[in-house]
Amino acid sequence: MADVDRKVVFDYLFLMLVSKIEIPEAKLFRRGKVRDVFDLGENLLLVSTDRLSAFDYVLPSLIPCKGTVLNSLALFWFNRFSREFPNHVVTGDVDLYPAPFRDHKDLLRGRSVLVRKLKPLPFEIIVRGYISGSGWNSYRENGTISGISVPPGMTESEAFPQPLFTPTTKADEGHDEPTTYEALVEAIGAKRASRIRETALELYRQARVYAEGKGIILADTKFEMAFDGDEPILVDEIFTPDSSRFWKRDGYKAGRGQESLDKQYVRNYLLSSSWDRKSPPPPLPDSVVKETSRIYQSIFQTLTGSDPGC
Ligand SMILES: Nc1ncnc2c1ncn2[C@@H]1O[C@H](COP(=O)(O)OP(=O)(O)OP(=O)(O)O)[C@@H](O)[C@H]1O
Ligand SMILES: [Mg+2]
Repeated sequence: MADVDRKVVFDYLFLMLVSKIEIPEAKLFRRGKVRDVFDLGENLLLVSTDRLSAFDYVLPSLIPCKGTVLNSLALFWFNRFSREFPNHVVTGDVDLYPAPFRDHKDLLRGRSVLVRKLKPLPFEIIVRGYISGSGWNSYRENGTISGISVPPGMTESEAFPQPLFTPTTKADEGHDEPTTYEALVEAIGAKRASRIRETALELYRQARVYAEGKGIILADTKFEMAFDGDEPILVDEIFTPDSSRFWKRDGYKAGRGQESLDKQYVRNYLLSSSWDRKSPPPPLPDSVVKETSRIYQSIFQTLTGSDPGC
């Protein structure tokens, strides 16, 4: 039985909120912070729930429509870039899912994808076009980001002369730590590290140009990749509001934080609240849940030109 937590009255519509996917006939692979993953042998079924994580905690509140936006937006981008950049997708069409998943189509439609099971590198592959977030903090402390010297005198949210490749470790538990290109070379070899860096920078460049055409600044983003032989394969998600910073071009001004069309809105709320960051965060106020849902749906609409359908 699929476990649908509760339905909420949201702007006079009943919306389904999904906190956790229980399909007892299926083998669970893992529950990530946001996705529940099922094991089908050579493939995995990645199901995006409505959970939200921030500061390494899974929040107790669910965000209506979030799982659908993440899954459908990642599929949009994977499809757009698939000729040049191979990805893990087999299909997002629930009608093509094998048993037992085809018995749960209504729950899985829009929020799930069947993918090749690969071995993601234990690194988060981050590209930064603008200085913000942890990059800005590191720069203010010591003038570098992930071991890269950054020109002096930059202001918050300013564009770098060239985008930076700033990988982090991918921790099983807790916090991902900044690392360096040299550490990546050490771990996977010079040839593969170079392929990863080229792929990430070129993909970021192309998505940034696309987003710019929609009035959106793609400030930075995070990928996960695996290898098939010497070929890098994109896995997990790409260019979603969980993995990227999206800013409105109208109103953008360096020297301060920007209005964010992504998870930063929730981080900012939590930082402005009385929460101490040492204990699990409290539920978000309804107004913040509602605004977060609106932001996720709106960035989907702006980038794809269509409605997420939830
Ligand atoms: N094609 C794939 N093959 C194997 N694992 C994958 C693939 N695509 C994604 N994953 C893994 O599935 C999980 C997705 O869950 P989710 O995105 O919620 O995790 P997360 O919160 O980002 O990270 P964590 O794994 O630390 O919980 C991640 O661990 C990701 O590395
Ligand atoms: Mg993830």
